[in-house]
Amino acid sequence: MIRRRFLKGLLGSLASFLTGSVMAYGKECTTSSDDEGPYFKQGAPFREQIFDEAPENQEVLLISGFIKSDCHQLVGDGVVDVWQAGPNKRYDLSDQYQFRGKVRIDSKGFYQVKTLVPPIYPGRPMHIHFKVSAKGYQTLTTQMYFSDDESRHSDWLYRRNDGASRSVSIDRSEKPSRAQFDIFLKSNS
Ligand SMILES: [Fe+2]
Repeated sequence: MIRRRFLKGLLGSLASFLTGSVMAYGKECTTSSDDEGPYFKQGAPFREQIFDEAPENQEVLLISGFIKSDCHQLVGDGVVDVWQAGPNKRYDLSDQYQFRGKVRIDSKGFYQVKTLVPPIYPGRPMHIHFKVSAKGYQTLTTQMYFSDDESRHSDWLYRRNDGASRSVSIDRSEKPSRAQFDIFLKSNS
C-alpha cells in the first residue's frame, strides 16, 4: 500500500515536472507576435543605424541578437525591419524614414541595429517594433519591451500577448548601451 502510494506520488511528480518542462521549453523557444499597427511604413532603407542624427542627451542603443527556430537552429539570410517612435514621441511617416530601417540577418543568424532608447509616449510603454522575414519561415511581426520600464505592466498589448517574454534589459557597462533580443521564427513546413 505504502509502495503503491509512493509510486503514484513519484509518477505525479514526474508528470508535473515534464509538463512544466514542456511549457517552459515551448515558451522559451517562441516569440509572440503583434500586429504591424498603424505606424509601419514600407520601404525603409537598409542601414545599421536607423537615424541620421541623435538629438543631444539621447541614449544610443545597440540591439543585437540571433534569429532562431526550434530553440537551436539559427536562421540565416533574412531581413529585420525595425521602427520606433523618435525622441519627440512620434513616428516619422515622412520619406526621411527616421527611426526606421532594415538590417540583414547574416548567414549565422546574427543581426545588429543601432538606434536610440525609445521614449514612453501617451498610451504606450517603451517599445520597438520588429518585422522579421527569412526564406522558409513565417514572417513575424513583434515588439520588444524594456524590463526596467514599469509602465509596460499597464499596457494592454503587453499584457495580452506575453510581453514579459519579449522584455530585455539594457547593459550600460559600455557605450553605446546594449540590449540583446533573440527572435524565434516558425518554419513554413
Ligand atoms: Fe509603437
